[in-house]
Amino acid sequence: MYSKAVASLIVLACCAPGAAWSQSALMKQAQGLFKPIPASAPSLPGNDSTPAKLALGKMLYFEPRLSESHIISCNSCHMVGMGGVDLQETSLGHRWQHGGRNAPTVYNAVFDVAQFWDGRAKDLEQQAGGPLVNPVEMGTTETHVVEQLKGIPGYATAFAKAYPGASDPITLDNVRKAIAVFEATLITPHAPFDRYLGGDDKALDAVQKEGLALFISKGCAACHNGVNIGGGMYAPFGVVERPGAEILPPGDKGRFTVTKTVSDEYVFRVPSLRNITLTAPYFHTGKVWDLRQAIAIMGSSQLGATLTDDEVGKIQTFLGALTGEQPVVTLPILPPSVATTPRPKP
Ligand code: HEC
Ligand code: HEC
Repeated sequence: MYSKAVASLIVLACCAPGAAWSQSALMKQAQGLFKPIPASAPSLPGNDSTPAKLALGKMLYFEPRLSESHIISCNSCHMVGMGGVDLQETSLGHRWQHGGRNAPTVYNAVFDVAQFWDGRAKDLEQQAGGPLVNPVEMGTTETHVVEQLKGIPGYATAFAKAYPGASDPITLDNVRKAIAVFEATLITPHAPFDRYLGGDDKALDAVQKEGLALFISKGCAACHNGVNIGGGMYAPFGVVERPGAEILPPGDKGRFTVTKTVSDEYVFRVPSLRNITLTAPYFHTGKVWDLRQAIAIMGSSQLGATLTDDEVGKIQTFLGALTGEQPVVTLPILPPSVATTPRPKP
C-alpha cells in the first residue's frame, strides 16, 4: 500500500504521467461495469441457428404479407440500415394508426433481459408474435399468418428446409423461432468503446474518456451497464423528479401493466444506449429528439443532478463511441404470390 503510493508519487514527480495512471484505472473500472458486444451472433436456448432457418427468418423479417394490408413488415418499423428503428415518435402501423410507444431498436436486443419497454415478452421468440397480431401494428391474426404463408408455395420449401423432419412445419411457433434467429444476428460489435474495453486505450479520445468518467461518477452506469449499457434491469422514469407530462404522460404506467405491483408504476426497462446517436427520438414516448436534452433530463429525473452544458456535451461525446459496426444485410428474394394466395385487406 505504502510502496504503491510512493511509486506513483515518484512517477508523478518524474514525468507527470499521472494521467496515464488514472487512465488505466478508468479502463479497469469500465471493464468491471461494461462488456463488449461479441463478434458473432449468440446462440438462442432451444432454438439452434442453421443456414436454412436463418435464411427463412430473414425472409419473414422483410415479409410484408405477414401484415393484413401486405404493406407492413418488421422492417417497416425496425429498419435495417437505419439503426433498427423508424425515426418516428410513435410507430405508424396498420391503417395509418399510431401505437402508444416509440419503437426501440432491434439491434443488440438479443442481449436485453426481456423485450419491450415494459419487459412483457421474455425473449425475442416470444416478442416476435406480438406485432403480427397487434391491431395498430401488423393487424393480422395468428390463424391468418399460417394461412397466408401456406398460400405462398415457396414457403413450403423454405420451412421444410428450416425445420427438417417436421410434418407440418408452417406454424406460428416456427415463424417466431426463425425471426428470432435472424434478429440475433443484428448485433453491432467493434464500437470504439468495445475496442477500449478490449484494452485499446487509444480507441477513445480525451473528451470521450472524460465523458465516460462522468457517466460512471454521476451514476448513469448504476442503471446503464453490462453488455448493452442498459437493457439489464428495470427502473422508474423519475426516480428523483418526475419529468413533465409531455415526456412521461400519466396514462402509460409501464411495467405496472405487466406485474400489477404498485411499486412498478412508471417503471420501464432501462434502455440500451448502444448506437444511441442513430436512434432518436428518445424515451418510450419518443418526445425528445435531442440527445443532449435526453441526457440532461436523465440527470435531473434519475439522479437529482443538474448537469452543466459542458458535462452533457462530454457525456454525449462518450455515447457517440457506442456506435458499432452496423449489420450489413442483403435483401432476401421473397417467394411470389400465386392466384390462390390470400389477398391483402388494406
Ligand atoms: C408498426 C410498427 C412496428 C412493427 C410493424 C413491428 N414493430 Fe417491433 N416494436 C414496435 C414498437 C412500438 C415497439 C415497442 C412497444 C412496447 O414496448 O410496448 C416494438 C418492440 C420490438 C422489440 C423489442 C425491442 C426492445 O428493446 O424491447 C423487438 C425485438 C421488435 N419490436 C421486433 C419486431 C419484429 C420481429 C417485428 C415483425 C414481426 C416487429 N417488431 C414489427 C413497432 C413495430
Ligand atoms: C435509476 C436508473 C437510471 C439512471 C441512474 C439513468 N438512467 Fe437513463 N434511463 C433509465 C430509464 C428507465 C430510461 C427509460 C425512460 C423511459 O423512456 O421511460 C432511461 C433512458 C435513457 C435515455 C434514452 C434512451 C432511449 O433509447 O430512448 C438516455 C439517452 C439515457 N437514459 C441516458 C442516461 C444518462 C446519460 C444517465 C446519467 C446522467 C442516465 N441515463 C441515468 C434509467 C436510468
